[in-house]
Amino acid sequence: MTSSSPSNSRARAVQAMFGRIALRYDLFNTVATLGRDSLWRRRAALLAAPAPMGNALDAATGTSKLAQELARRARQVIAFDFSDRMIALARRRFQEKSGHGSASVRLMVADALAMPFQDSSFDCATIAFGLRNVTDPGGCLREFLRVLKPGGRLVVLEIFRPSRGLNRLVYEAFFKRAVPLMGWALTGDRTAYQYLPTSVDAFLSPAHLAALMESSGFLQVSYRSMHLDTISLHLGVKPG
Ligand SMILES: C[S@@+](CC[C@H](N)C(=O)[O-])C[C@H]1O[C@@H](n2cnc3c(N)ncnc32)[C@H](O)[C@@H]1O
Repeated sequence: MTSSSPSNSRARAVQAMFGRIALRYDLFNTVATLGRDSLWRRRAALLAAPAPMGNALDAATGTSKLAQELARRARQVIAFDFSDRMIALARRRFQEKSGHGSASVRLMVADALAMPFQDSSFDCATIAFGLRNVTDPGGCLREFLRVLKPGGRLVVLEIFRPSRGLNRLVYEAFFKRAVPLMGWALTGDRTAYQYLPTSVDAFLSPAHLAALMESSGFLQVSYRSMHLDTISLHLGVKPG
């Protein structure tokens, strides 16, 4: 397994935190979203690869759930994360599960801010619940732009804070109060699930992320919000 040691301390803290919660990470997501997270990842894969594709990339893959969806649609999938514990779990998951078609899947430890791939390597790329955790989202988007082929599609699946109204009230009550307690109870890690709403509050709005994708060089940027405006899927295309 290749090692990946980020140079800045915030990134090292995020890496250590995801390593600590890796074992219970999927359990928490399933319970907190009542299983809807799998549906969101399936939609992300369909948007990234609406037709069968050659090479697909899943960045910040965690336990590789979105990479598994991509493996049904692409000939080759490369999935990476900078947490070696997440990648160890992802490897186990791919060994246990069948039904990935004939895709070849490569899992590796790597940093989304210095992707170890040549320019113009992938037909599509995805990142689910990862961009918010990367210390330099703009730098990460520029890496995606570099490694995508001309015309290649990037899909970002992320959590957002609703801007107003009832959705905002539900978010404040459930996501900011109940979720940290639920995360603590299920994983035993209080800090990680206090970090979760804090990181969402500190992240961009869907419109600002779309603007960042455009200023990073993506074309045809669009997004749709789901689940009381707390989840969005962003699409961008590398100029051809
Ligand atoms: C909330 S999890 C999302 C995992 C997975 N994509 C999913 O759909 O559940 C965020 C992941 O981003 C990874 N991550 C954060 N910053 C990263 C970086 N700079 N490079 C690679 N992985 C990173 C973490 O290790 C963690 O596994």
